[in-house]
Order: sequence, then structure tokens, then C-alpha cells
Amino acid sequence: MLFDQTPQNGNSDSNANADEYRIQTEPYYRTVHDEANLYEAAYKARMPMMLKGPTGSGKTRFVEYMAWKLQRPLISVACNEDMTASDLVGRYLLDKDGTRWQDGPLTTAARMGAICYLDEIVEARQDTTVVIHPLTDHRRVLPLEKKGELVEAHPDFQIVISYNPGYQNLMKDLKQSTKQRFGALDFDYPDPETETEILAHETGVDRDTAGKLVEIAQRARNLKGHGLDEGISTRLLVYAGQLIHKGVDPRDACSMTLVRPITDDPDMRDTLDSAVSAFFS
Ligand SMILES: Nc1ncnc2c1ncn2[C@@H]1O[C@H](COP(=O)(O)OP(=O)(O)OP(=O)(O)O)[C@@H](O)[C@H]1O
Ligand SMILES: [Mg+2]
Repeated sequence: MLFDQTPQNGNSDSNANADEYRIQTEPYYRTVHDEANLYEAAYKARMPMMLKGPTGSGKTRFVEYMAWKLQRPLISVACNEDMTASDLVGRYLLDKDGTRWQDGPLTTAARMGAICYLDEIVEARQDTTVVIHPLTDHRRVLPLEKKGELVEAHPDFQIVISYNPGYQNLMKDLKQSTKQRFGALDFDYPDPETETEILAHETGVDRDTAGKLVEIAQRARNLKGHGLDEGISTRLLVYAGQLIHKGVDPRDACSMTLVRPITDDPDMRDTLDSAVSAFFS
């Protein structure tokens, strides 16, 4: 198939405005290791990046922060198994004037020079995932097969994917040929000191209360693989802190945000409830 080259200044079909995708105010992101510097170096090389880590460990917040810091528009796509290549790339739409091509979010990002964040990419089927291949190697192009156009990525375009290593099985994993197109950064729940600081900042609770929440989480995280599939995330700790800050009794707040969401097992709930009582009596 033959492809037209995209005009230098984008394409009239794509009138998305980069300002819509710009992050105006600095997102609060507390650096845990050297991830911001490493990411910045990767961005300078326009290296596709993979953020690996459990749910609620700061991946999305980090991308928002980096997009703000690098002053790039950010286009995020939540991937799921029903997603098709057309959902990413674009499709023809029918309207009263006939047919009209509509760029998908990946195409918009590639034309605009945005950072494109594909969240939970493993959820997408492999025939969908492969559309990112030509964008993630030296070619940096995106073929719009149906339109017969070859989009050359804007020089500032970068692709970032998130990946939760815990949830994969053999049927649902990225192919090596996809994985090996990315540099990767590991995310995990931060050390207690840092997590306490994050909670105090995010929720307004005092450091003493934040520290207790973190200690409860530490205990629950030790139960991962021993009755819990996943430990309590930083996100859930933020929920607990928000309720406590609003005046909810800490035990009720913890029960609602740290215990009930993560397990239905009565024994495990008792274990976690008693950990909560040890800190909030
Ligand atoms: N390093 C950090 N600095 C500031 N806030 C953080 C940090 N890590 C986690 N958080 C807090 O935890 C919340 C959850 O983080 P985030 O939504 O980025 O998780 P995620 O890794 O993208 O999770 P998921 O895989 O479920 O999408 C954030 O909204 C923020 O309040
Ligand atoms: Mg996220």
C-alpha cells in the first residue's frame, strides 16, 4: 500500500489544540529515587518508556509531572481488551457532509508532539498493540492504513506505557518484540518516610497520623502472597487520610479505604482491622 507523506505542519483533519492537553499547574510529585532525571534523559533521546509497578504507586502522577516539567502536552489513553487499532489510530466517520477522517489519540499525539501515555497497555489485544511498533523504533512513523497516509511523528513526540508486572499471565503479556522497544522504570510504594510526607501533603493530615497509616500499610504489604493478592496502595492511604482529615473516625476511615476494598476474606479482614486498632484506638 502507498502512503501520502503528512504535510510538515500537521494535517487539516487534525485540528486538536495542543493547549487543551497542556498541564497548567505543577502536579505534586515527590521524587522517590532518580526517576525524574532518568526520565528526562530518556525524553531527550525520545526513548519510548515503560513505567512498571503496582496499582496506586504513582505512575500516572509521575507522567503528569514530567509532562508539565518538559512542557509537553499529555494525551492519555486507558487501554482495554475491547480496544481496536482504530480506537488508537483513527477512523472514518459518517456525518451529513459525507465521510470524514477522525484521528485517534495516538495519531493526534504523534502529529502534535505530545507525550502519549497508554495506561494498562497489556489489557489491549496484541493486534492492537503492534500499531505502536513503527512509532517506537527508528522509523517513528504511524501508518494510517485505512486512510493511506504515513504520519511522521513530530520530533517532540514520545510514547509512554504503564505495565503492572503482578497481573500478567502467559496469555496476557506483552510480546518481547513490544517490550524490547522501551526503556523501563520501576515504581513501588515509597519508603515509609517519603510515603508519610506524600500523605501529609496530599491529604492535610498531620505527620503523626500519616505515619500511622503508613505503618498499617507496611503490615498489610507483608501479607502479600500470604492471603492478600496486593498490598495497600499509596492511593488507598491517600483516601484514608482524606476521610480522616474530613473528621471521619480513623478506624471507620481505615476500614472503608484500607481493609474493605482489598479483601473479602473474614479472617484477613480481622487481621487488618486489628492492625488498624493497634494504631488508632
Ligand atoms: N511519588 C508520589 N508523589 C506524589 N503523590 C504520589 C506519589 N506516589 C503516589 N502518590 C499518590 O498516590 C495516588 C495514586 O497514584 P497514581 O494514580 O499515579 O498511581 P498509578 O501507579 O498510576 O496506579 P494505577 O496502576 O492503578 O493506574 C496519587 O493520586 C497520589 O495522590
Ligand atoms: Mg495510573
